[in-house]
Amino acid sequence: MEGSGKSTLISRLASLLRSRGIETAVTREPGGTSLGEKLRKILLDPAGSQLCSMGELFLYAADRAQHIEEVIKPALAENRTVLCDRFSDATAAYQGYGRGISLDIISVVDREARNGITPDLTVLLDLPPEEGLRRVRSRNEQYGSKTETRMDDEQPAFHHKVREGYLALSAGEPDRFLILNAMDKPEELAQQVMQELEKRFPHVF
Ligand code: TMP
Repeated sequence: MEGSGKSTLISRLASLLRSRGIETAVTREPGGTSLGEKLRKILLDPAGSQLCSMGELFLYAADRAQHIEEVIKPALAENRTVLCDRFSDATAAYQGYGRGISLDIISVVDREARNGITPDLTVLLDLPPEEGLRRVRSRNEQYGSKTETRMDDEQPAFHHKVREGYLALSAGEPDRFLILNAMDKPEELAQQVMQELEKRFPHVF
């Protein structure tokens, strides 16, 4: 969810994993490659309202395809653990549940973009959309920008649909998801993920 503390959590997790001797790569979508960072600018440009929903879907897919080939596959081949800030579920939640593109179309496009890569664990940081948007707004004010991204401009109703989407996706694949309450303190969230990782992947620790 927007404003749920993903970046803070991911950097804490990376430090905790590295302190346990686990080689960890941190990356994000959109972004993560030089092409991806250019796509990110286009996708998140608050002035980019002419971009139609299908165009948006294909740009997220282009970003993912490049990211998988250039960053994720090579990192996995070197036996590194990959922490990725947003992935395919964001496409289903935002472009599917939020924008209304058919989930069948999204599934086909995303499957081609992912090229066989699936996350071992997906952490859903859940919080009321109003609270997330409030956090994003206060962060934007702090850094002097009125709007950070195209999505922050969307009405709360859009973000409620996105949240419903994430909850439906996690209900459909409960084994892949860990749902956390993003109102918890950052250090508690990091501990909760670490406990889950130790439980699920004891051979790694
Ligand atoms: P963030 O990195 O600050 O969360 O911003 C990324 C934005 O991009 C966020 O609003 C969610 C959106 N997004 C999609 O709409 N679809 C996607 O497939 C991905 C990866 C992100």
